[in-house]
Amino acid sequence: MVKIAVINGPNLQLLGRRKVEVYGHVTLDTIEARLREVAAECDVELTFFQSNHEGSIVDAVADAAAEGCAGIVMNPAAYTHTSIAIRDAIEGVRLPVIEIHLSNIHAREEFRHKSMTAPVCIGQIAGLGADGYEWALRALVRHIKSKN
Ligand code: DQA
Repeated sequence: MVKIAVINGPNLQLLGRRKVEVYGHVTLDTIEARLREVAAECDVELTFFQSNHEGSIVDAVADAAAEGCAGIVMNPAAYTHTSIAIRDAIEGVRLPVIEIHLSNIHAREEFRHKSMTAPVCIGQIAGLGADGYEWALRALVRHIKSKN
């Protein structure tokens, strides 16, 4: 079965409690539960990983490739705007990655407008709240199936 990694970056474990006016009330557990339903519908298997540490996210990208994942849905959170290491990891594994943000990073502070990681992803979804994870997964599955 096609395997897809879902990787979440720093502070996303706080979803549902953190800046709810920006990120909403949905928790990461609820997002993962919804993604499991979508995965069952699409006949793919998911692995979930969240870390507040840049190097652990770099490792998770490499692990996804080593474990035979066919692609990654990733919210690098604040590391989106700073991490050359995560960008290089994505580029290095040559897996299709869709970057997702709950908020519309392009409509927020200027420092959030730049994504270090988006140029090495196949696409980015931003501003659709927690539902964005579902659209990212569906888009990635369609992309992977179109290549097989
Ligand atoms: C975020 C946007 C980032 O700028 C921010 O640092 C986050 C969450 C989002 O999902 O909207 O932590 O990635």
